[in-house]
Amino acid sequence: MVSDGQVFPVPADLARDAHIDAAAYDAALARVEADPEGYWRDIAARLDWITPPTKIKDVSYAKEDFRIRWYEDGVLNVSANCIDRHLPAKKDDVALVFEGDEPGTSSTLTYGQLHEEVCRMANVLKAQGVKKGDRVTIYLPMVPLAAVAMLACARIGAVHSVVFGGFSPDSIAGRIQDCASHFVITADEGRRGGRRVPLKANIDEALKHCPWVGKVLMIRWTGADVPLKAGRDIVWQDVRDTVSADCPPEPMNAEDPLFILYTSGSTGKPKGVLHTTGGYLAWASWTFWAVFDYKPGEVFWCTADVGWVTGHSYVVYGPLANGGTSLIFEGVPNYPTPSRFWEVIDKHQVSIFYTAPTALRALMREGDAHVTKNDLSSLRLLGSVGEPINPEAWLWYHRVVGKEKLPIVDTWWQTETGGMLITPLPGATALKPGSASKPLPGVKPQLVDAEGKFLDGATEGNLVITDSWPGQMRTVYGDHQRFFETYFSTYPGKYFTGDGCRRDADGYYWITGRVDDVINVSGHRLGTAEIESALVAHETVAEAAVVGYPHDIKGQGVYAYVTLKAGIEATDALRKDLVLWVRHEIGPFAAPDVIQWAPGLPKTRSGKIMRRILRKIAENELGSLGDTSTLADPSVVDDLVKNRAGT
Ligand code: PRX
Repeated sequence: MVSDGQVFPVPADLARDAHIDAAAYDAALARVEADPEGYWRDIAARLDWITPPTKIKDVSYAKEDFRIRWYEDGVLNVSANCIDRHLPAKKDDVALVFEGDEPGTSSTLTYGQLHEEVCRMANVLKAQGVKKGDRVTIYLPMVPLAAVAMLACARIGAVHSVVFGGFSPDSIAGRIQDCASHFVITADEGRRGGRRVPLKANIDEALKHCPWVGKVLMIRWTGADVPLKAGRDIVWQDVRDTVSADCPPEPMNAEDPLFILYTSGSTGKPKGVLHTTGGYLAWASWTFWAVFDYKPGEVFWCTADVGWVTGHSYVVYGPLANGGTSLIFEGVPNYPTPSRFWEVIDKHQVSIFYTAPTALRALMREGDAHVTKNDLSSLRLLGSVGEPINPEAWLWYHRVVGKEKLPIVDTWWQTETGGMLITPLPGATALKPGSASKPLPGVKPQLVDAEGKFLDGATEGNLVITDSWPGQMRTVYGDHQRFFETYFSTYPGKYFTGDGCRRDADGYYWITGRVDDVINVSGHRLGTAEIESALVAHETVAEAAVVGYPHDIKGQGVYAYVTLKAGIEATDALRKDLVLWVRHEIGPFAAPDVIQWAPGLPKTRSGKIMRRILRKIAENELGSLGDTSTLADPSVVDDLVKNRAGT
């Protein structure tokens, strides 16, 4: 185990050339205190406004006058900021580099070409009746047209809701229903690790539950022979040339919605996190520039799927708002071999590489040779996101990939935050392996105890943020009350992140993971309640409780306790069936790693499941089960301990 004491100073050459060095960071901290309005105005000035904002910030986290508004009288268009403002100067510069699932399949899209594709798709959407404010569901593989589809929506003021290509038809249907979208953009199939993903078939299945969806725009990608529904399905390649190659961008108010992205919480169905136009783009743009220290001409590669927030902010919006070059990778880290990431870096001369700890842990296992046989000298900066990075993985990343020279920015943020909040700045912050380090200027984290008492100095507690930043989500789509209740009622006047965190004597933050019933499996955020409701929907299951447990590669694994209905026999075949069932109900990434048959679940006398005990058993911390005397039937715990499934 690495001690907190290990510190990696900022490399001198990097500090010299960085957008923000230590002095500039300190100056920004001072400025945002002395002149917050001016500081935030400058962040917005990174963008190209049709009408620049005069009102900068109007925020209250208090129940009586709860509101979050940034740059509210400004007018702009996101797609114009990501494309048109770079033209004609960057017409021939590469906006998107594409690397396909199969090695040897790659292509590029220049800013000029991106403009044409986005305009054409925007015109197709318009021709099909999509209007400003309409919700459009996007279910696509990791291909450049996914970015085109998002930008086409933004261009005409439609609100996109991207659904990750790994989600099941049921999950898609739930997300289409929740935001009442009438239009879907998909592809015939996707490719991932040598396999095909039946995207259009999943949409067909989902739409059986969403009869109001009038149109499906399907991109021919693999060329698979998929059935088309007359009157509903349109093929992109058939209509692309029937519309004009120019589409004027729609002027949007800064607080008009840009997108909805569903994410899991502790309870209930996934929430539609809503982000708006001006503040979100300003924050995505500034954080990309500052944290990745991005310089013109560099190739930036974020391995996240556009179906998650990381893909929104750092595959599409952040890089393009900066006129950068963003690499879109269709595949997976270990196909065809565990050398793939590193080969792609050499092939496209990637300067900045941003990935998730789970991928690093998986690749670390395969041995250093897969990395070291590649040159990797194009790399300048490394990044990590999505879950806590264990110091072992951090040090491996630094030593083997970074040749002991490259800084690693461990960026903490959430779907709700729109962009990074706690992260090193490569030219300013000394690094400690496993710590996301310090807040960005203007970001106000605090640690509190369970009762909300402020905790000072070196301490551990729940992480809250006491004031707003431009990229903050504005509401839960269709349920503003739920937005307030979920994030602002636990600790009144503060935004509660759901994360636990330690702060050391140097003021460095160490995220310890979720303190609610959300788990993080391979960087995918899952609500245990969602998996439980999938399990109980199976005809054999009476009751289920799901918890996370430490998993070497995935960070956390899914551990399910299942009580079967009377008379149902607990067999291995049924266990396999239930795993398949959850894959089918939610998606493959939610499948339980462990199912333990539970004749009974530990409940209080009022019937509440005591998850603390279930977590301890799953974690194999049998010595610290705590007080079980308040249970209605303490003997169920003995049974669960005795029959604990090996992990
Ligand atoms: O628990 C934190 C973890 O991921 C959660 C947010 O998940 P999601 O909304 O899917 O967004 C992921 C990508 C930003 C957080 O509440 N998390 C994210 N980044 C880190 C992290 N935990 C520790 N260190 C990080 N760098």
